[in-house]
Amino acid sequence: MVRNERLYIGVVAMLALASCSSGTAVPTAETPRPMPVVEARDEPTTADGVFTLAQAERGAQLFTSTCSECHDQADWTESGFKGRWEDQSVFQLWYYINDRMPYDDPWSLTRQQVTDALVYILSLNGLPAGNTELATDDDSIDDYWIKWSP
Ligand code: HEC
Repeated sequence: MVRNERLYIGVVAMLALASCSSGTAVPTAETPRPMPVVEARDEPTTADGVFTLAQAERGAQLFTSTCSECHDQADWTESGFKGRWEDQSVFQLWYYINDRMPYDDPWSLTRQQVTDALVYILSLNGLPAGNTELATDDDSIDDYWIKWSP
């Protein structure tokens, strides 16, 4: 009796395994994998063309005159930097620059300069320019999330 019970359990287990593996469809040419579901993105990001080339150029000039004393461009394209700011709001990076940079003379930049410097950092990372400058008021700056790739 005990032996039969064991046998029975064994058979049930094997049937369960068999039905499991036959239930998993292996993709073939005839049954292609379903397309991955792309999450709908409802918040605008820095990949959406949020600055102009002229603005990035102003930021580049500011970089040369003011930031390059301590920074090189690689500071803002390396993975550590990008990882720290990915998915933060643009405002947080804006505020960081406004509040702390230049390191030896914080609060010396105008809102326009802070915004241009930020835009320069975006452009260094290959983010696309658009037709409208990133405006300098809080609401405009706070409109976007930082994404380093489109
Ligand atoms: C006198 C030197 C100096 C100058 C000039 C300077 N910085 Fe910095 N910057 C630093 C230092 C030092 C840090 C790191 C600060 C810390 O970790 O607290 C830093 C950090 C930063 C960061 C944060 C980087 C990160 O890894 O998260 C940004 C962005 C930045 N600076 C932008 C600028 C911009 C834009 C300018 C020019 C307008 C500028 N800095 C000018 C010294 C400077």
